[in-house]
This record gives sequence, structure tokens and C-alpha cells, in this order.
Amino acid sequence: MTPSPTDSSPLNGKMNTRIFLIGFMGSGKSTHGLTLARKIGYQYMDMDQLIEETAEMSIPSIFNEHGEAVFRKWEYDILLELCKKERLVISTGGGAPCHGEMMQIMKAKGSTVYLELPPEALRDRLLQSRTERPLIKGKSESELLEFISSLLADRVSYYKQADHSVDGLHFRMEDLISMLEES
Ligand code: S3P
Repeated sequence: MTPSPTDSSPLNGKMNTRIFLIGFMGSGKSTHGLTLARKIGYQYMDMDQLIEETAEMSIPSIFNEHGEAVFRKWEYDILLELCKKERLVISTGGGAPCHGEMMQIMKAKGSTVYLELPPEALRDRLLQSRTERPLIKGKSESELLEFISSLLADRVSYYKQADHSVDGLHFRMEDLISMLEES
């Protein structure tokens, strides 16, 4: 059940009305996003899921049939729609902040949180879900680590623009909530 505004903690009056979780694939954006939303009484939105529902296609099929550029355009459109709504925790796709103006838009319209993890930890988490993610499909374990290290190096300058960075390996929800209340 989605909590009503009155279920939210009185402390989150100071919290931004939109909280964007950003970071590499496998960094825990969806898991932590859902828990955060429940705890603060915001609605949870997953950008990848919204794209799939709107397109009526899975993300791998979108990449296969339309290509990544079209996926990025749809991702941008979904982001603009989400920015019209309030009291949301949004888990973004791993590439969203690194394409076009999406990072600037998220920063202007909400609080941004980077879930930071080292490449080895991301590899361990992503080994299980290679087929669901078109960018890593079919990669061996060693190819996966190489791919993650190289793409993360390209993306980190975007991720680091977030208002807050949190250690994804020692994540504590209470710390994140305090950070968001103080900002
Ligand atoms: C992507 C990450 C995926 C999804 C798409 C592209 C990326 O989201 O948006 O496969 O470019 O890193 P998750 O970060 O939720 O896996």
C-alpha cells in the first residue's frame, strides 16, 4: 500500500520533494529506493520500470529493436514527467545521469544521492543479472569486471555531481535519511 502524506515522518518536512538515487547498475538503487520511500512516506518510482510499462517492451527488447539512443530519449521523457510530480523517491537507470542534461535536471528538481560501490562489488552483484541488462549481456566474469571498471571511470564524474554520496558497501538507511533531512 502506498503511504498517504500523513503517514510520513514529521521530520521530513525539510526534505526535498523528489529524491533521485543514482549510481552504476547493481548499486542497490531499487532496493534502497523502495525502503527509503516506505520509511519517509513518499511514492517509489523506478525509471526503468516506467519506461518498460510505457513502451510495453522490456529494456533488452528496446535496446535490440530501437537502439540505445531511442532508449535514452524515452528515459529523458520519463524523467521530465516525474519532475511534474511530488513526494517521490526515484531510482534512475545507471546511465541516466550521464546522458544529455539528465543530471542537471535531477539536481535542479530534487536531491540527488550517489550509491558508490567499487567495481569488484558491482561485478559480484551483476554476475547474477547479466541477461536482464543489455549492456552486460553475454560477458564473462573477467570481461564484466573490465567493462564495469572502464564504464564506471567514464561515468564517475557525473555521479560525483550528486548532492550526497553514500558508501554502498556499508549502507545505513538512517544515515541517508538524516543526510536528506539536513540538506
Ligand atoms: C543502464 C542501466 C540499466 C538500464 C539500462 C541501461 C546503464 O538500469 O537503464 O539497461 O546504462 O547503465 P539499472 O542501473 O537499474 O540496471
